[in-house]
Amino acid sequence: MSPFEGAGRYLPPGAGLDGLRRAAAGCQGCDLHADATQTVFGSGSASARVVLVGEQPGDQEDRQGAPFVGPAGKLLDTALADAGIDRADAYVTNTVKHFRFSRSGTGTRRIHQTPDAAQVAACRPWLSAELCVIDPEMIVLLGATAAKALLGPSFRVTRQRGRLITRPPLDDEAATQNGFYLATIHPSAVLRADDRDAAYAGLVSDLRVAAEALR
Ligand code: URA
Ligand code: SF4
Repeated sequence: MSPFEGAGRYLPPGAGLDGLRRAAAGCQGCDLHADATQTVFGSGSASARVVLVGEQPGDQEDRQGAPFVGPAGKLLDTALADAGIDRADAYVTNTVKHFRFSRSGTGTRRIHQTPDAAQVAACRPWLSAELCVIDPEMIVLLGATAAKALLGPSFRVTRQRGRLITRPPLDDEAATQNGFYLATIHPSAVLRADDRDAAYAGLVSDLRVAAEALR
């Protein structure tokens, strides 16, 4: 059981993306709202064919209020272009909508902390609602947090990345299409890798599998 009440009661029934975004701005479904600057909701078109799901906003995203606008986002933009995925066809969001961090010794630097399972569960209603509204053909899971949230805790990105995973229609009356999941590494993992070129090539090659399926 999650120790948090969760986002569920903040969800406006029947809302579109704008209504969801407005409601999420006031979410206090878990403890993360207390220290973060703001909710960082997803961004992109409701008719996007592909949704990319990251982990949580980073330092820059928390300040600017938009997903994937910092260093990892810049790398993701380049990788999407190299893979042939049009940003206009893509909606970008995160598994958890508030930045989780600790303070460095001097208190000046904010250090990313991975959200825990209870925080992921608490925030899940927002992601589910975004996916149901958009009903995308392709859901790309960037890194372990997103992959485990949608494919289960035993999913291993390192072993199961870059493959199309068929899925039934999303659990919503309005959703009609079958579609795919595809998991890959998180763009931040490329930035941290010893061999950045190899890690980047791996990310692009996984994204190309998604791009091919969208043709
Ligand atoms: N990392 C993420 O997972 N999401 C962002 O929005 C930025 C960095
Ligand atoms: Fe709500 Fe998610 Fe933020 Fe927690 S992380 S307060 S559940 S929006």
